[in-house]
Amino acid sequence: MNAFQEDILAGIPDILPEPRPYDHTVSHAPRRKDILSPEEKVLALKNALRYFPQKHHAVLAPEFAHELESYGRIYMYRFRPSYEMYARPIDEYPARCRQAAAIMAMIQNNLDPRVAQHPHELITYGGNGAVFQNWAQYRLAMQYLATMTEEQTLAMYSGFPMGLFPSHKDAPRVIVTNGMVIPNYSKPDHWEKFNALGVSQYGQMTAGSYMYIGPQGIVHGTTITVMNAARMQLRKRGLDGDDRGGVLFVTAGLGGMSGAQPKAGNIAGVVSVTAEINPLAARKRFDQGWVDELHDSLDELMPRIRQAVAAREVVSLAYVGNVVDLWERLAAEGMHVDLGSDQTSLHNPWAGGYYPVGYSFEESQKMMAEEPERFKEAVQASLRRQVAAINTLADRGMYFFDYGNAFLLQSSRAGADILKDGQFRYPSYVQDIMGPFYFDYGFGPFRWVCMSQDPADLAKTDALAVRVLRECAASAPDSIRGQMLDNIRWIEEAGRNHLVVGSQARILYADCEGRTKIALAFNEAIRRGDITAPIVLGRDHHDVSGTDSPFRETSNIYDGSQFTADMAVQNVIGDGFRGATWVSIHNGGGVGWGEVINGGFGMVIDGSDDSARHIREMLFWDVNNGIARRSWARNAGAIEAIRREMDRTPGLRVTLPVIADENLIKSVL
Ligand SMILES: NC(=O)c1ccc[n+]([C@@H]2O[C@H](COP(=O)([O-])OP(=O)(O)OC[C@H]3O[C@@H](n4cnc5c(N)ncnc54)[C@H](O)[C@@H]3O)[C@@H](O)[C@H]2O)c1
Repeated sequence: MNAFQEDILAGIPDILPEPRPYDHTVSHAPRRKDILSPEEKVLALKNALRYFPQKHHAVLAPEFAHELESYGRIYMYRFRPSYEMYARPIDEYPARCRQAAAIMAMIQNNLDPRVAQHPHELITYGGNGAVFQNWAQYRLAMQYLATMTEEQTLAMYSGFPMGLFPSHKDAPRVIVTNGMVIPNYSKPDHWEKFNALGVSQYGQMTAGSYMYIGPQGIVHGTTITVMNAARMQLRKRGLDGDDRGGVLFVTAGLGGMSGAQPKAGNIAGVVSVTAEINPLAARKRFDQGWVDELHDSLDELMPRIRQAVAAREVVSLAYVGNVVDLWERLAAEGMHVDLGSDQTSLHNPWAGGYYPVGYSFEESQKMMAEEPERFKEAVQASLRRQVAAINTLADRGMYFFDYGNAFLLQSSRAGADILKDGQFRYPSYVQDIMGPFYFDYGFGPFRWVCMSQDPADLAKTDALAVRVLRECAASAPDSIRGQMLDNIRWIEEAGRNHLVVGSQARILYADCEGRTKIALAFNEAIRRGDITAPIVLGRDHHDVSGTDSPFRETSNIYDGSQFTADMAVQNVIGDGFRGATWVSIHNGGGVGWGEVINGGFGMVIDGSDDSARHIREMLFWDVNNGIARRSWARNAGAIEAIRREMDRTPGLRVTLPVIADENLIKSVL
């Protein structure tokens, strides 16, 4: 057994590891709000110490008190492992079942410093999207996974491994819940408090569910969105939607997911300009080749934008500074912008998600910790200015869309001029694009990870996926053939675009038929030995069925049910007994704590008959649950899709809506 395996099996080591010096070369989570009362600080320390034998308390108590004081949280930095953090090939994990080994690889990928936003604070993306609350939880969870059998299930409570409970082979190996609190205690400050106490965490979507695959996941979604937004605009002007040269797209954020925007802009063939206030985040994306040029000065950047647009260059430019300065300059200089959006972390506006204009990055960090009220005012004033500049450009023809980061919501709460006739002035990308063209037909961000971590296996999966999608496209109705062709093009170019950061993963958008046939083809290839190790199947929670989020995933539900969360909860329960290897359900993700309920799954396939059965049963439910709900909400695409599915699947019987005559209703009210 090697040192890595011994370390995993040791869990929380009996002998205290040496304290780890604070590493300034990685990006750290901002200092969190000092939210606990003196009595609650006692509770937080008591909570932290319960992971360790009493003999260590005298050393750990002052250390944890210092962490709480300095960072607003107890991360237990001393227990961060000294081995390198990355997804290893499945056989390198100490394990008694391969499913658990695969989950360990997925967890380590979410904490890989090349992938994670604040790796030492166990944050994968979105500023607060946590895998665990502290390093003791990580160590315990890995130890449980390394020792569990196929007859046990691990219960994960917001990063805390409650333990292994007897179950059975077909049951999920892990059940994850993140941030599930009583609804009345679901305001942002409740998160701050419960998280500081060490009893709850914000799992985002794929952070706390071990399903993040680096920025690739979001590159694909963003590419589809930018491409279709540009197409819509060009066609409105009577131009060819597929000739996108010289289209200008302006946005903000080069963080966890937002960092995908420049790459997506390049794949979609446009000129993109992305503002990023954090120089470390900007540099990371530049070094990874995800953005082509960094500019500190607007005086330099403005002529460069003009030049790129005029020459119809396909290029991604970044402004290292505040996005409000960029928008105001564009408005002042009378520039024409075609597409505009924003991906600052406005789901988390008061704790580092959004940096107000007029302050340096460091000044903002200090203010948010020491003067939270003043910080809040600065953020709101900044949003008002940002919206004013965006409105000016929109009046000149720019198409602006909310990219699911609560920009419209937070701007309206800040009193910005964002409402017209009681509605938001701008649509969300789900209302105009993702909902009607993708989710309503069951298309969503299906993904897979090769557990050999071998690029050759990934290339084989790409080829299989293209073959299957071509077959599906050949017999697809017109309403969905275009979506399939875009995805075929994406996957054909995926290898060339060097999209892998971290584990050997791939994403594409497919419907139920596509996902199932692709997964079965992989399973066969594993069975034959063409693919050398198991594959993990999964998806983003941001999907047709996984997420109830009234201002994002379910913003194109118009029957009033967009504020309910039955679909996401049903989804996870249904996946849990149909063959998922792990399931997760979260409060918060994308648009903020208390604003969304979302869930997901992971499924390890190993070439067996059991895997084939799990694929058929679980993927079917995982997609069609959401289509059925969208159909009941009277969404035309979803009605078409579920009717088609009922024709194909004798066991499926879904309640369909009867459309009432609006005039009749008006006449009786
Ligand atoms: N719906 C979707 O599919 C989707 C996709 C991607 C992101 N999102 C949302 O977008 C947001 C961003 O996600 P992320 O993972 O990139 O978060 P992140 O926190 O990693 O990145 C946001 C970046 O914005 C920068 N920033 C903040 N304020 C700024 C300002 N005023 N000017 C310039 N830069 C500023 C931050 O420094 C940070 O690097 C989240 O709210 C997320 O939920 C949604």
